[in-house]
Amino acid sequence: MHLTSDEEKMLAGEHGPVLERSFRLLVRLGEIYGADKMIPIGSVQVAGVSYKSIGDIGLEFLEDYASQGAKVKVLTFLNPAGMDLENWSALGFPKEFAEKQLKIIDAFRSMGIIISATCTPYLAGNLPRFGEHIAWSESSAVSFANSVIGARTNREGGPSALAAAICGVSANYGLHQNEARKPNIKIEIDEKLDLRSGSDFGALGYYVGKQVKNKIPFFSGIKTEAATTSTLKALGAAMAASGAVALYHIRDITPEANNMPVEGLETLHVEPEAIEETYAKLTTGEVPDIVIVGCPHSSLLEVEKIANALAGKSLKRPFWVCTSRVIKHTADDMGFTGIIEKAGGMVVADTCMVVAPIEDMGYRITGVNSGKAANYLPGFCKQDVVFARLEDLISKCI
Ligand code: F3S
Repeated sequence: MHLTSDEEKMLAGEHGPVLERSFRLLVRLGEIYGADKMIPIGSVQVAGVSYKSIGDIGLEFLEDYASQGAKVKVLTFLNPAGMDLENWSALGFPKEFAEKQLKIIDAFRSMGIIISATCTPYLAGNLPRFGEHIAWSESSAVSFANSVIGARTNREGGPSALAAAICGVSANYGLHQNEARKPNIKIEIDEKLDLRSGSDFGALGYYVGKQVKNKIPFFSGIKTEAATTSTLKALGAAMAASGAVALYHIRDITPEANNMPVEGLETLHVEPEAIEETYAKLTTGEVPDIVIVGCPHSSLLEVEKIANALAGKSLKRPFWVCTSRVIKHTADDMGFTGIIEKAGGMVVADTCMVVAPIEDMGYRITGVNSGKAANYLPGFCKQDVVFARLEDLISKCI
């Protein structure tokens, strides 16, 4: 791999131990995956933030790195934490957990990382341009950035994203290069399949991800009016969870699709039954003891729609709407939070149903409208799941 003279110096430790250690990790990855050089990156999104995920070992590593003077060189956002960083006590998060989580946040803050705590950085102030090289790590954010925006990132791990942030570069391999962005399977959506909601797209994503694993699917038959920011983030999140899809294309909708070669590709046809069967397959419980929506984190429009759906209702079970703090502030100002709270729900910032320790907070059956959350909740949070459309989840709570 070609390195510039400055990069050689970094590797030789001339810029200090933190840069040396970080750059060495990037070089190693580049060697493994056959990179020809390092490339500058426009932004980073770092995962591995929840104390539930990284534990004391992760906390010690971050505090050690921060104490050695680690600083990021490019705009760097954080994935969700394990709790609402302001309202954790009222929501019932354990105090011991909160103390550790806040230390993790302090370590990231001291490195110059924006405490965005969201998996939708593109809705919260970190929007890359088409073709821009970035190093993001949360799988749904990676999928959205690659597919919907047309930016270029591999699915980074927490440590490699942090190293890229500290060095300001990433190794040039995989989805940074044109060749690796070509589709290798076609997905034909049956014309009778009427995809209406984020949960329908989540079910589709779960179904397709299971079949295609880490391939790059090329969809046809998705109606333009159904493909919104909300539905596309739900689709990508679920495909990245049930499979390992980091990039997808949709004819006439995503920016690179219509220039991609698709002749002769293996084809998977998706019938309407596949969607209803996926709802049934992912549902293992009957009555949720909490409903949590906002996976990936809700957009402002989604929060508004939920507020409209809950207006005047009285919820008999806990109902959380997860989003970023940036969106929550605007939802507060617009009165959406007030409407949701009046119905008995909560707008919860900085965290989500998967990275929060909900299993330690007394919850056993969680209702979700996200294919990704339905995929992870049994394993990560020991939950039975009710996977349903938003209106059905609301009706189970009143
Ligand atoms: Fe985001 Fe948590 Fe879902 S990180 S994509 S809301 S599992």
